[in-house]
Amino acid sequence: MAFYSAANLVELYDGFCRPFVANGRRLLLLQDGGETYVVENRCPHMDAPLANGRIVDGAIVCRAHGIGFDLRSGRARGPLADTLDCLRFYPVAYEGNKIGVDL
Ligand code: FES
Repeated sequence: MAFYSAANLVELYDGFCRPFVANGRRLLLLQDGGETYVVENRCPHMDAPLANGRIVDGAIVCRAHGIGFDLRSGRARGPLADTLDCLRFYPVAYEGNKIGVDL
């Protein structure tokens, strides 16, 4: 297992959203409400990159078709909530003053 850095801790703020690649996986580091998340940088709806989205009311909203995915549960909001897969989360990892994932 190896650590893959996405950002320095001092760079983080609510609304932070940065794509990065770890061991060939396209991921996204986000912060909202003081919580940080690492999710797959792929919308469960039709695979658009979520890095182009925006964070609104605790959800990452995909720019392609406007579906929001809750950052705590991973579930889609709205009428497709029961039909779409959830966001795929990865555990956040730290090394020194860096934040990222261990994969
Ligand atoms: S691809 Fe993301 S909402 Fe459709």
